[in-house]
Amino acid sequence: MKTIKDVDIAGKRVLFRVDFNVPLDANRQVADDSRLTAVLPTLQYALERKSKLILSSHLGRPEGKVVPEMSLAPAAERLGTLLNTDVKMAPDCIGPAVKALIADMKPGDVLLLENLRFHPEEQKNDDLFARALAELGDVYINDAFAVSHRPDASVVAVTRHVPVCAAGFLLAKEIDYFDKAMSHPKRPLAAVIGGAKVSGKLGALENMLVHVDKLLIGGAMANTFLKSRGVAVGKSKVEEDLIPLAEAVMKKAREKGIAFYLPLDVVVAGRMAPDAETGIVSIQEIPSDAMALDIGPETSRLYAKALEDAATIIWNGPLGVFEMDAFSRGTLDMAKCLADSGALTIVGGGDTDAAVHKAGVAAKITYISTGGGAFLELLEGKILPGVAALQKADLRR
Ligand code: 3PG
Repeated sequence: MKTIKDVDIAGKRVLFRVDFNVPLDANRQVADDSRLTAVLPTLQYALERKSKLILSSHLGRPEGKVVPEMSLAPAAERLGTLLNTDVKMAPDCIGPAVKALIADMKPGDVLLLENLRFHPEEQKNDDLFARALAELGDVYINDAFAVSHRPDASVVAVTRHVPVCAAGFLLAKEIDYFDKAMSHPKRPLAAVIGGAKVSGKLGALENMLVHVDKLLIGGAMANTFLKSRGVAVGKSKVEEDLIPLAEAVMKKAREKGIAFYLPLDVVVAGRMAPDAETGIVSIQEIPSDAMALDIGPETSRLYAKALEDAATIIWNGPLGVFEMDAFSRGTLDMAKCLADSGALTIVGGGDTDAAVHKAGVAAKITYISTGGGAFLELLEGKILPGVAALQKADLRR
């Protein structure tokens, strides 16, 4: 994949796709600017080359309508502070007013286009809409890893119409790290997969069985696996229809000699509430009126031991309801375990990212992906449509 370093952007109009889908607080300020800081190296590189920076992004899911609360204006303001330059906000992302603003841009100017998803055509990968976007730049740079799993017009169709297309540093880095971890890992390679549902992680689990040496399971999805082994899990969430698939995953792991880990003990409560009365029980002793809401301390120790010799660890999905303190210990223990492991550690997914921050160990993780759904699709072994589009654009030219 060609990157921004391989193309001439000096003094040119560069149309960037970034992912500024950031949370806003009650005062409509950016509550977490990590997706903005993640693209600063790319934007600074372009500023040094006196390009005209035209940034496009979505925010939220306005479903093709103008929703003023989903304006990107707060992102423009924060980006201006981060770049220490004026970031102009466009009233739309295509059309004559936008073109006029761009015609007035000088080298080194930065313009943020308004939310792409105010237009229904964006998520339909509409070719006419993509052409209208493409007219705005001489070069197109995709630095929006977190949305590169969406076949949207600004991610895919646009690459058919801008003469020069390449990846930004963030997209390239995300793909490189993932490749290092999955395709050419230092072994043993371990994956820790948590989260609420087996159904959401099935593709990832199946693909993990192709690559990893150890697979550690946590979160509510562990219940389905435990039940398939005949464990009585009380009122815990179970996806009954997926029990055969859970069995198949474990069988395949056995056949391939992959070490497969399930919880030995769990934190239980009668209800999922921050003030619920909790207990720690072995999986054989889950009361019939209780549900498992976190892994227990013995499991944390077992998982830490299992990861001791791992050279590469990939982690996606919390191991309990970590938003509630009463059920957060297992997830926080795992975050600390990765931080102290000395292995190449890659963490992805919004909740997992939040967990390593909550544990205060983000700086000790080798790489934290900016992607949620995009990271999961990589775990599933898929090629992201945004990446495929850049590769195709390369072949065409
Ligand atoms: C994300 O936050 O994961 C990306 O911005 C994609 O957003 P979407 O799920 O609304 O397409």
